Amino acid sequence: MSAADPRREARELVAAARAWLEECAEDGLESIPTTAPQPAEPAPVADTGREVLETPPPPGQAGLLDEAPAWPATPTLEEVRGTLGECTRCGLCQGRTQIVFGDGNPEADLMFVGEGPGEQEDRRGIPFCGRAGELLTRMIEGGLEIPRSQVYICNIVKCRPPRNRTPLPDEVSACRPFLDGQIAAVRPRAIVALGKPATSLLLGRDVAISRVRGQWHEYRGIPVMPTFHPAFILRQYTQENRRLVWQDLKAALARTREG
Ligand code: URA
Repeated sequence: MSAADPRREARELVAAARAWLEECAEDGLESIPTTAPQPAEPAPVADTGREVLETPPPPGQAGLLDEAPAWPATPTLEEVRGTLGECTRCGLCQGRTQIVFGDGNPEADLMFVGEGPGEQEDRRGIPFCGRAGELLTRMIEGGLEIPRSQVYICNIVKCRPPRNRTPLPDEVSACRPFLDGQIAAVRPRAIVALGKPATSLLLGRDVAISRVRGQWHEYRGIPVMPTFHPAFILRQYTQENRRLVWQDLKAALARTREG
């Protein structure tokens, strides 16, 4: 087949366009702008279904590395929660109903890390208890066939960002020591990073989730499996996306069962 074969060219163009559209969706674009974006346009939405805030962050009240708690090698979740207290380390404390610390087995082999509480989570104090959480629970209980109470689930930030926007860098750095404390306390055999923000945080670089999902990485010696955020799956409910998440979760569970 020659390079000028129009059918082949068309197939390649479609594949390139599809890859580009997937990247746009991951980076938060819900539609492809045909003109330069106007300032009044709504903010884009990340793969986690959250708005990506484009204005610079307000100065953080804390989150300074030198204020970060130093955990013993294996803290307990109670110690980590106790140190978090009625946290006012960043501006998220102002809009929250309550802190959403974590949920599940303190000795779980498998840990899930999301981005931050949404409306339902803020109201009930439980991570992943809204629509995305229902899907996550179905994937764990229906797919992996283990009770949700057997795994541990938490988020990067423990307080709901206003209008569910993506947490700002100072909010992430204020809360990160507590995620690290949770990981040190639970000592899971594998972590599933849900979506781009959690994956980028744990991998230490900005990632495109479709490029890194399905491959093993490591955080502080613990295997990390990045996968699509359930909110992304709800919005892009294709057989292919569901198959990929299923594949990632199965690999993560299998990893926890390796000798
Ligand atoms: N999305 C998240 O990232 N975390 C939750 O707890 C709920 C929705």
